[in-house]
Amino acid sequence: MALVTRTETYVAVECDGGKLIARPEQTVYTFRTERSVPRLGVMLVGWGGNNGSTVTSAVLANKLGLSWPTKTGIQKANYYGSITQASTVLLGTADSGDVYLPFSSLLPMVSPNDIVFDGWDISSLNLAESMERAQVLDYNLQTQLRPHMEKLKPRPSIYYPDFIAANQADRADNVISGTDKWRHLEQIREDIRDFKRSSGVDKVIVLWTANTERFCDVKQGLNDTAENLLDSIRKSESEVSPSTVFAVASILEGVTYINGSPQNTFVPGLIQLAEQKRVFIAGDDFKSGQTKIKSVLVDFLVSAGIKPTSIVSYNHLGNNDGKNLSAPKQFRSKEISKSNVVDDMVNSNHILYGHREHPNHCVVIKYVPYVGDSKRAMDEYTSEIMLGGRNTIVLHNTCEDSLLASPIILDLVILAEVCERITFRIGDEPFQRFNSVLSLLSYLCKAPLVPHGTPVVNALFRQRGCIENIFRACVGLAPINHMMLEHKHEHLKQGSLPDLGVDVANKIENESPIKKRLCHGLNGVSNGHQVLSSGDDFAEK
Ligand SMILES: NC(=O)c1ccc[n+]([C@@H]2O[C@H](COP(=O)([O-])OP(=O)(O)OC[C@H]3O[C@@H](n4cnc5c(N)ncnc54)[C@H](O)[C@@H]3O)[C@@H](O)[C@H]2O)c1
Repeated sequence: MALVTRTETYVAVECDGGKLIARPEQTVYTFRTERSVPRLGVMLVGWGGNNGSTVTSAVLANKLGLSWPTKTGIQKANYYGSITQASTVLLGTADSGDVYLPFSSLLPMVSPNDIVFDGWDISSLNLAESMERAQVLDYNLQTQLRPHMEKLKPRPSIYYPDFIAANQADRADNVISGTDKWRHLEQIREDIRDFKRSSGVDKVIVLWTANTERFCDVKQGLNDTAENLLDSIRKSESEVSPSTVFAVASILEGVTYINGSPQNTFVPGLIQLAEQKRVFIAGDDFKSGQTKIKSVLVDFLVSAGIKPTSIVSYNHLGNNDGKNLSAPKQFRSKEISKSNVVDDMVNSNHILYGHREHPNHCVVIKYVPYVGDSKRAMDEYTSEIMLGGRNTIVLHNTCEDSLLASPIILDLVILAEVCERITFRIGDEPFQRFNSVLSLLSYLCKAPLVPHGTPVVNALFRQRGCIENIFRACVGLAPINHMMLEHKHEHLKQGSLPDLGVDVANKIENESPIKKRLCHGLNGVSNGHQVLSSGDDFAEK
């Protein structure tokens, strides 16, 4: 158990005779983190899909330490693309320079290699067959994984044909029978309990990575309150979607539920139920490729005082997700999810944008089977610059959809699990958990769900800073503020301008990654000018 205290500074802004008054306020939070890491089980809805089979393959490949020959050499399993597994955080500054640590060492967290997978799919293929159908992994890796993957078989799932594209009907051969939605709910609850019992995991998280559904109606009496929603499931109301049944089942089992797709699973009644049962929900829609770039690029443009006026995003993809999204109602779900991603950045700058002014923003998705899982995202950003000038940025982004989404799935479940072990209090108040709507996971979501009345943040580095700084708070460290005042003193401490010669730089090459980062910090003092001779990898050419 770790007891730590930190201070947050808020700024209250008041209107006083036309003037804005900023007032710093201090609140003392005490964070407490349960340190023992549980054995985590993850149940994927849509386990046999491209994401489901790829994330399972990735964990197995890493766990077994697999490597495989490719046309460019030997490839080893890794977790690139995961912030918890493949990124570092700036811990602080030592006399010798900045110190970076693996993100995963900030707080005790589950290793992906230890996650036990299970799940459901309306398609009966085992995971080896699903991996082959997905056409994501190199053949040599598939061959090594096959004996392990063919033992894994998705449980039958809930299929209401009206919610996904008609073109999915031919794979629906593994479905829970009948039309009684309450019985379906009970079956999913029993599956969760059965998995927990039979696998011996301490904790389960359920994550939806099944097809994008159409939006369901949100209506008074249908799904506006927890009671009405439960009642609607009892009555097998047609507007209750499979994903909402899964979410309700998870909540009733006290299990965190994460939505990786764009549909409105989280109807008001469901959010209320999660709050009543004090269970986490998070979503929506993995932020993997085009939108991730958008949430960096528009943030950069607007914060640089440049005014994006037109953002046009084309995609074409050839996997089953693309096939499902070729139906208008399912495309509409994705379009909605992608459309609000620049709002917070645009609203942050009233010098560039008038009241309610917004850039033109258009999203197009086309299904082109030949490109398979290798999605192409093409973006054109047109911005106004000084004195009527126009700046146009054009991007072509080959996304490899499932290889980008899989590490996001791992981060979502790993971070959600850590959040389940964190409590905090303000002053002497009782300890509390995070809000049931776990907005801390916004970094990983295209259309972040946040508690009612709280700000939505889409800007990627603000979202990352949120996770990093909250985790720092949990170990009693102040947030990183990038002032670096200690390096701006008129009279710098002796030794803070090191003599980094060629010999040292050569030595760095043979040092550990963390030591390299230390030395890179020193390199920055001179921006490469005084340090190295030409011809060296580190030298400015
Ligand atoms: N890959 C990415 O980069 C990315 C990014 C953001 C969002 N997403 C979303 O993630 C989801 C999965 O993507 P994918 O590429 O794995 O798609 P996929 O079509 O390959 O996999 C979806 C799986 O869900 C199954 N399924 C459909 N309805 C089901 C139900 N009711 N219960 C259980 N299984 C069901 C299908 O049989 C299929 O195997 C999609 O909604 C997609 O829009 C993907």
